[in-house]
Amino acid sequence: MERGLWRFLKVLFVAAFAFHPYFCHAQKDPQYSFVQEATSAPPVSYHSYIVVGGGAAGCPLAATLSEKANVLVLERGGSPYLVPGKTDKVNFLIGLYDTSNESYAQHFYSEDGIFSHRARVLGGGTVINAGYYSHADPKFIEETRLDPALVKDSYQWVEKKLAFQPPILQWQSAVKDALLEAGVQPFNNFTYEHIVGTKIAASIFDENDHRHSAADLLEYANPGNIKVYLHATVHQIIFTTENNGSRPRATGVIYVDALGVKHTASLTKDSTSEIIVSSGAIGSPQLLMLSGVGPAPQLQAMGIPVVVDQPMVGQNMADNFLNGIIVPSPLPVETSLLPSVGITQFQNYIEAWSGLNMPPFTGPIRKPLPPLLNQIYTEARKKVEPYPNTTRLQGGIIVQKAGRPLSTGYVELKSTDPNETPKVFFNYFNKTEDVDMCVRGMETVIKVVNSNSFSKFRFTSVSTQDLMNLTATITSNVRPKHFNTAMSLPQYCKDSVSTFWHYHGSCQVGKVVDNDYRVLGVDNLRVIDASTFHATPGTNPQATVMMLGR
Ligand SMILES: Cc1cc2nc3c(=O)[nH]c(=O)nc-3n(C[C@H](O)[C@H](O)[C@H](O)COP(=O)(O)OP(=O)(O)OC[C@H]3O[C@@H](n4cnc5c(N)ncnc54)[C@H](O)[C@@H]3O)c2cc1C
Ligand SMILES: *[C@@H]1O[C@H](CO)[C@@H](O)[C@H](O)[C@H]1NC(C)=O
Ligand SMILES: *[C@@H]1O[C@H](CO)[C@@H](O)[C@H](O)[C@H]1NC(C)=O
Ligand SMILES: *[C@@H]1O[C@H](CO)[C@@H](O)[C@H](O)[C@H]1NC(C)=O
Ligand SMILES: *[C@@H]1O[C@H](CO)[C@@H](O)[C@H](O)[C@H]1NC(C)=O
Ligand SMILES: *[C@@H]1O[C@H](CO)[C@@H](O)[C@H](O)[C@H]1NC(C)=O
Ligand SMILES: *[C@@H]1O[C@H](CO)[C@@H](O)[C@H](O)[C@H]1NC(C)=O
Repeated sequence: MERGLWRFLKVLFVAAFAFHPYFCHAQKDPQYSFVQEATSAPPVSYHSYIVVGGGAAGCPLAATLSEKANVLVLERGGSPYLVPGKTDKVNFLIGLYDTSNESYAQHFYSEDGIFSHRARVLGGGTVINAGYYSHADPKFIEETRLDPALVKDSYQWVEKKLAFQPPILQWQSAVKDALLEAGVQPFNNFTYEHIVGTKIAASIFDENDHRHSAADLLEYANPGNIKVYLHATVHQIIFTTENNGSRPRATGVIYVDALGVKHTASLTKDSTSEIIVSSGAIGSPQLLMLSGVGPAPQLQAMGIPVVVDQPMVGQNMADNFLNGIIVPSPLPVETSLLPSVGITQFQNYIEAWSGLNMPPFTGPIRKPLPPLLNQIYTEARKKVEPYPNTTRLQGGIIVQKAGRPLSTGYVELKSTDPNETPKVFFNYFNKTEDVDMCVRGMETVIKVVNSNSFSKFRFTSVSTQDLMNLTATITSNVRPKHFNTAMSLPQYCKDSVSTFWHYHGSCQVGKVVDNDYRVLGVDNLRVIDASTFHATPGTNPQATVMMLGR
């Protein structure tokens, strides 16, 4: 009798706890028990490794470290598992232009007038990106001096969870044939490898067009050894400097949860403990600078105490420019994202997508079209459910990037607020070689668009020049346009430039970190993510970022 009552009270107590709104909110991630809101974190905790940023590099890194040690991941965004369908292939652009407070993309304009996006979600860029999955070019692996056998194993570890062979339907089949017609030879079929010619690339979208992401790599984690806090924005890395003149040593971080409450995570005293910054090409240099590691004059101007004067932090930021041609189609097209790809002798990479849901055509980002183009473009957009005001593009875009642009810019602090995107300058087309590369790439894109294989997807009344005009008009950048006369290709490159989102170089190996990715001048601190790259690995970086994390 007494035992029965006790049991009853216990059940009641547990139920009250579990269904209390605070704990429902705080404790439940649909995917993982160890992923929780930072509001449920203790004021102070101790860990062998603290990973700042649960993105493309941070997730595989943390899963790997948890095999043998206690790991904490602090991610400023939320869970990618809450809204089914939100990150499906067809919604790629809708997601990017989502301006709600639940958006996985943080928007910004670069100093050179490019509208762009930064991931803010567990899984990072792999939750908002175009899904294209391919290995680095062999030259990149050589230059980074990574162990080739380990590289191969690590790619495979990633691929077991999230690489798929995409279908090649009408539009992508025409793109493939058009590339071959344009001379991007030979055909290399489906492969992960980076080889000159035309190939079919892998994708992190599965056969049902559902996205898989770096967050799925946390399935490999040892649940007893890892904690992931969401909406946990790291404000600062803490350093100590002993009076005996030793180097500054990272000892912990301060992070802030969704309710604005501060927490401290500290390293345990064992000799291997470290903080690893995996906050991406924009976030990593920003956090180093906010913590006192960066160019001294810039830090002093912001009132930040200098821990180490490191002039190279944030310098050499680069992006691969994206230029292309939008092609509205008289025929229906499938929904596709980038499977057919051309890798030219000159290392221009040509990719294409089609049939995606379009973001709203209003607001500061979009401008009205000239009447002829407006009519064609509107004809080519069809209403789709379930989004009442969403239209799907009947048509697509052929885009290209240069493998290794030479122009570089910087990341500099705009304020001491870690939530604000710092000043980002890519300095597109600063070097004339980059303009030449773009012109070469555009020449191939034009050949593709004008090829026999592609003719069934063209309105006969619309010239290629019209299409270029359309593309330059609706490109979401705020750069001056020069299309009163037929545009020259160099001018077209500059006017219609977008980002390929392949930011890299702001915490480069040899400049900010050593060959083991340790931050120069301090102890117990590394950076592991795309900011360490001196070039984009191959056509697209995500496979290599995740491989590096592993
Ligand atoms: C729109 C878009 C399309 C792309 N398309 C492709 C593609 O098709 N194929 C491809 O290979 N690559 C693509 N990429 C590039 C690829 O996604 C990135 O190269 C990759 O995600 C970079 O990984 P990262 O780990 O360096 O940074 P991220 O993946 O961005 O991870 C950084 C993480 O750190 C978190 N963070 C930042 N600051 C803090 C802080 N202070 N505290 C806590 N957390 C913080 C961020 O929220 C984020 O989750 C695309 C990228 C974008 C944005
Ligand atoms: C977004 O705003 C809605 C409505 O104001 C609120 O209920 C929700 O909690 C917010 N979400 C985030 C992640 O801030
Ligand atoms: C490409 O590979 C597929 C199997 O994946 C095969 O059926 C096809 O014949 C190959 N095509 C060429 C041109 O090699
Ligand atoms: C300074 O002190 C720390 C800890 O007290 C010690 O580990 C380190 O070796 C010392 N460095 C020098 C240069 O004496
Ligand atoms: C859809 O668009 C119409 C007109 O453009 C507008 O009046 C309406 O509010 C929009 N509905 C939604 C749900 O955004
Ligand atoms: C290239 O960039 C540098 C640094 O911003 C600038 O000084 C120079 O004028 C630029 N050159 C050209 C040709 O734009
Ligand atoms: C391009 O569009 C502009 C208006 O947006 C127009 O003035 C110009 O004549 C067009 N050029 C060509 C070659 O169609």
